[in-house]
Amino acid sequence: MILKTKQLSKSFGGLKAINKVDFELPKNEIRGIIGPNGSGKSTFFNLVSGIYDSDPGSYIEFDGHDITFAPPHEIATYGLSRTFQLLRLYQDMTVIDNVMSGYHTRVPYKFFDAVIGRKKIWDQERAIKEEMMELLSFVGLADYAELNASELSGGQRRLLVLARAIAMKPKLLMLDEPAAGLSPVNVDNLMKIIMQLKEKYGLTLIIIEHILKVVMDTCNSVTVFDHGQKIAEGTPAQVKDDNAVIEAYLGKKMDDEEMRKALAV
Ligand SMILES: Nc1ncnc2c1ncn2[C@@H]1O[C@H](COP(=O)(O)OP(=O)(O)O)[C@@H](O)[C@H]1O
Ligand SMILES: [Mg+2]
Repeated sequence: MILKTKQLSKSFGGLKAINKVDFELPKNEIRGIIGPNGSGKSTFFNLVSGIYDSDPGSYIEFDGHDITFAPPHEIATYGLSRTFQLLRLYQDMTVIDNVMSGYHTRVPYKFFDAVIGRKKIWDQERAIKEEMMELLSFVGLADYAELNASELSGGQRRLLVLARAIAMKPKLLMLDEPAAGLSPVNVDNLMKIIMQLKEKYGLTLIIIEHILKVVMDTCNSVTVFDHGQKIAEGTPAQVKDDNAVIEAYLGKKMDDEEMRKALAV
């Protein structure tokens, strides 16, 4: 298992945003996380990536490391990369520099200084830049490398966020609604690129996505949250037919015909 949580919990005042979640993810899998708005999906990411502290009694393990109390930068060095639901790009920095900043999340400059000495940094940086340019061309942004991030279209920004998250060469990549706001054509393009990146970099992926069709087409397995709890887990086909999921997700019981329409898968 590359990621494991036991009894993972997070309260905000009286609200249990995540409530005793046991979660296991094998390597090389693409796991989808779905659930209604406010069901705890983003909070789950924030706990695993160390942005939030979990409640006492929780346990989180990543690639053999107990990361229950680890801060985000330490978790990143173990190889966990994530994106945020609201894009966090450096708007006034160029596209290539945004990607370079992703690389240095995993290997900070301080580390370079210590390990290879200042005079070698320049050469090293040039080599990294070439590698990052290759990554940019892989996602189709090479021609935009010297533009500011703010000059990109919405779809291009989504691709840049993805490239930056992969720049640190993660073992596990966690994407929070990567396709939000994109047109169907752009969603298809993005998902295709995500699948190619998975193959190329040998990634394990967790994708929070509200477009059910994307989850059903892309993921090997799906975890469903409702009110902070895991209410179902299985293959896309299993989850799609689970009554608790249908009820939680759609808010009411439906007959087969209605459900097929609503899920459109
Ligand atoms: N920092 C926070 N402070 C207070 N409440 C929060 C915070 N983050 C999330 N919540 C609450 O926790 C619940 C789960 O939120 P979230 O994980 O963002 O849901 P999802 O991503 O599934 O839409 C919501 O009720 C939300 O309002
Ligand atoms: Mg969310």
